[in-house]
Amino acid sequence: MSVRPDDHARIVARLRASGSVFAEDEAELLITEARTPEELEAMVERRVSGLPLEVIVGWAEFAGLRIVVESGVFVPRRRTEVVVREAVALAEPGSVVLDLCCGTGAVGAAIHAAVGGVELYASDIEPAAVRCARRNIEPLGGQVFEGDLFEPLPASLRGRVDLLVVNAPYVPTDAIALMPPEAREHEPHVTLDGGADGVDVQRRVAAGAAEWLAQGGHLLIETSREQASRTAQAFRDGGLTAEVRRAEDVDGTVVIGTAA
Ligand SMILES: C[S@@+](CC[C@H](N)C(=O)[O-])C[C@H]1O[C@@H](n2cnc3c(N)ncnc32)[C@H](O)[C@@H]1O
Repeated sequence: MSVRPDDHARIVARLRASGSVFAEDEAELLITEARTPEELEAMVERRVSGLPLEVIVGWAEFAGLRIVVESGVFVPRRRTEVVVREAVALAEPGSVVLDLCCGTGAVGAAIHAAVGGVELYASDIEPAAVRCARRNIEPLGGQVFEGDLFEPLPASLRGRVDLLVVNAPYVPTDAIALMPPEAREHEPHVTLDGGADGVDVQRRVAAGAAEWLAQGGHLLIETSREQASRTAQAFRDGGLTAEVRRAEDVDGTVVIGTAA
């Protein structure tokens, strides 16, 4: 829809006053997405109250795709594109890809878009994430399971996974309080909390990965620059090799390993 210049300026001012750094861009997006003045007003109100922009408009841009985002589901971040890039470099048509801790399923969907004909599976413990991931993954012919890490997966996947791609929670518990309100108030703690040193869930993934990987298959886990050595140690403790890769343009870090 279009708005009068003074309404446009008023929206930008409200967004800026609420702490938005990109108020102009956000106003443009909300104005484009709203179908009526009432809807626009409601969207601005929700944004001013701190809801992530992606949840309000219902999608996030990730690796050149529009990924469906629903309330209560982790919003895919640009830095996670490092996992996609490294996975795509290792993938072949027909590769079996498992997106564990999938959230919206953005990582799996982006690999599918870049590599023809991958066999795609995803899982998450949160019902809201599973519902959302089904909207992104099932149209691609993929399947989404609900439960704790590997527990809900069909036994037939054991030993067949070529690419196990994981962005598990990795924020140290005490650091959650320091995150922007948008994340700490609107993304469930289960999507963020990696335990005392941030590596608890990653350790469990690395410990269980070898059983699910195909011969020569790879585990890729996103981490932070600060935690990369601990994530790599978790790989070695799980009987895997570990190599840390960085993508400076998106400020992303990933550890990659194969069964040693
Ligand atoms: C940081 S978010 C990442 C989501 C998605 N991979 C992405 O990059 O956008 C972590 C996800 O892990 C899920 N999760 C946390 N603990 C889990 C567990 N024990 N088993 C399965 N999923 C889990 C959360 O629900 C959340 O969706």
